[in-house]
Amino acid sequence: MLNAQHQARLDALHRSLSESSQHFLGYPCANDIDYTDLLRFLQFPFNNVGDPFQPSTYRLATRDFEQEVLHFFAQLFRAPANDYWGYVTNGGTEGNLYGLYLARELYPNGVVYFSQDTHYSVTKNVHLLGLRHIMIRTQPNGEIDYDDLRDTVRLHRDVPAIVFANIGTTMKEGKDDIGRIQQLLDELVIEQRYIHCDAALCGPYAPFLEPRPAFDFADGADSLAFSGHKFIGSPLPCGVVLARKRYVERIGRAIGYIGSMDTTITGSRSAFTPLLLWHAIHSMGAEGLQRRLQQCQAVAAYTVQALQAVGITAWRNPGALTVVLPRVGDAIKHKWQLATQDDYCHIITMPGVTTQHIDALVQDIVQERSTTRLQHGETALA
Ligand SMILES: Cc1ncc(COP(=O)(O)O)c(C=O)c1O
Repeated sequence: MLNAQHQARLDALHRSLSESSQHFLGYPCANDIDYTDLLRFLQFPFNNVGDPFQPSTYRLATRDFEQEVLHFFAQLFRAPANDYWGYVTNGGTEGNLYGLYLARELYPNGVVYFSQDTHYSVTKNVHLLGLRHIMIRTQPNGEIDYDDLRDTVRLHRDVPAIVFANIGTTMKEGKDDIGRIQQLLDELVIEQRYIHCDAALCGPYAPFLEPRPAFDFADGADSLAFSGHKFIGSPLPCGVVLARKRYVERIGRAIGYIGSMDTTITGSRSAFTPLLLWHAIHSMGAEGLQRRLQQCQAVAAYTVQALQAVGITAWRNPGALTVVLPRVGDAIKHKWQLATQDDYCHIITMPGVTTQHIDALVQDIVQERSTTRLQHGETALA
């Protein structure tokens, strides 16, 4: 039982989080799903330790729900029916680490290629794995520069190529075309190759984009990861990684202590996050995800128009939910939690972001500009 002082601290935290969640436009996390149905499961010390497809001595678990989640996404990402495996991770970073780990086990002397707009965690991942890597230039829209990739791989034709592709870069939601990457490797006759798809944000909606980007297993990905707390809206960080099963079979080890196979990165794994994802996919279904995308795209289009209407050079990639604009002042950046890099920032119109939020932000920007102009005018007069 908490004393009154500690209870008051929690109440204050709750008020502060409620307020901050009303000004949450710069990070790709949906803010709209109600999981109160699942609260009763928090009374169990449950844990999905081990392989999701193998039984374990630890039976307080949700592995069958985890399998259903994996199956749903495997179908969505056109994974080969009898040759896929996966698990619910702690987030996109772990899923990407896993994909690169499988690649390294397959090609220990491979070189990893990724674009300069790739998420910051990937440099750390390749460092952890001791993999050699080369950074490739990006185009202004955030997509990898295929000419630079071709020229660079050509210089290293004697070693396997591990391409880390982005289906939605962090800042601009640029999408690398895995079909084009495969073609380029074909032209260079690189037979030993591995392609990992980082679809942290776009994974759950990429299948519904029109035109559909080349990003999944049928397009040539060997593994794919996304975050569950982004578009889907899990309140706890989580994610999904899927890979061709034959690669995973190379790394698994039977562990007596857990009565299962050790095929995942961490030992203990949340048994709650698979339930969150299971709840989300069954309450929305594929059609619900598609509708959710369309609603977010409408808010993204509104955002570009509203910003352009007041003279701000905002833009987005076709179909994207990320609106890029010149960086704003610190007060607005902090109020609306706008992720900022170099001279630009972005708004991501995740589920939960409404046109009213956008109107309020635009009003703040207009006000900031007129205050700045006034201050400059006053300085000039002084
Ligand atoms: C493109 C990309 N990859 C990976 C990540 C890391 O995902 P997570 O925060 O789920 O670990 C992010 C997070 O924003 C991302 O934008």
